[in-house]
Amino acid sequence: MTTTATHRIRVWDLPTRLFHWSLALLIVASFVTVKVGGNLIIWHERSGYAILTLLLFRLVWGVAGGRYARFAAFVRGPGAVRAYLRGDAGSAHAPGHNPLGALSVLGLLAVVGFQAVSGLFTNDDIAFEGPLSAQVSGATASLLTTLHRWNEKTIMALVALHLAAILYYRFGKRRDLIGPMVSGDAEFPGAWPASRDDAMLRLRALAIAAACGGVVAWIVR
Ligand code: HEM
Ligand code: HEM
Repeated sequence: MTTTATHRIRVWDLPTRLFHWSLALLIVASFVTVKVGGNLIIWHERSGYAILTLLLFRLVWGVAGGRYARFAAFVRGPGAVRAYLRGDAGSAHAPGHNPLGALSVLGLLAVVGFQAVSGLFTNDDIAFEGPLSAQVSGATASLLTTLHRWNEKTIMALVALHLAAILYYRFGKRRDLIGPMVSGDAEFPGAWPASRDDAMLRLRALAIAAACGGVVAWIVR
């Protein structure tokens, strides 16, 4: 019988983890502030800008981040997804997002991205105008406002699917995905290279995040 030793390695660099938990918190904040309404709409708007900053950061981090945070490490074609679904060895227990999980990651980024961008063009016909709503025709602004409202359901559905998948891994496959998203580390059979997560990488993340914040501030000024 052959046994493969397991090794504990860094999978998610700190910037990726901070990105994730900040995004999750801000999505909840966006829903709470808009449902409570009233004066909180200003915080709905600010939370949306912060989410836009995070998403821009994640796009850049997808090419400049740690090994497993890079798009090249997890975005795969339909062939890889089919192989994963068939349970082919090799793709089964490796660090990073699996080929199917990667689809959910891209889906979440896309629908949340659409929400944050469409929010800039909203116009509630009472007191609120998004910062770019005057740049488009009234018809376009109301269409984007309607889509912004409808997209609520898509976000809820994808987040529910996201959480269901994580619970399935936890209790169905006995694999904890949440711990690594908190601590950064996970154990894998065989030797895998660890992600970088040193001070220089984190400094790079800080510079990228600051630049993304600057871009968003300039867009909504
Ligand atoms: C509104 C809420 C949430 C959103 C929009 C969201 C979105 C995302 C995104 C975009 C990723 C990819 C991370 C990256 O590569 O940058 C991710 C991964 C992950 N999320 Fe969430 N998330 C949410 C809530 C949660 C919650 C509440 C949990 C835990 C209970 C969670 C657990 C995870 C885990 C464990 C991963 C890594 C999955 C893997 O190992 O492939 N997420 N999430
Ligand atoms: C990803 C970020 C965002 C999320 C998750 C989000 C979520 C939502 C949701 C769920 C609603 C519907 C509330 C309801 O009808 O009960 C809504 C409405 C609204 N959002 Fe956002 N939003 C985001 C970003 C923004 C931004 C950046 C702005 C403006 C700058 C904005 C402005 C508005 C306005 C004005 C409404 C009310 C539209 C109306 O019903 O007339 N949102 N948002």
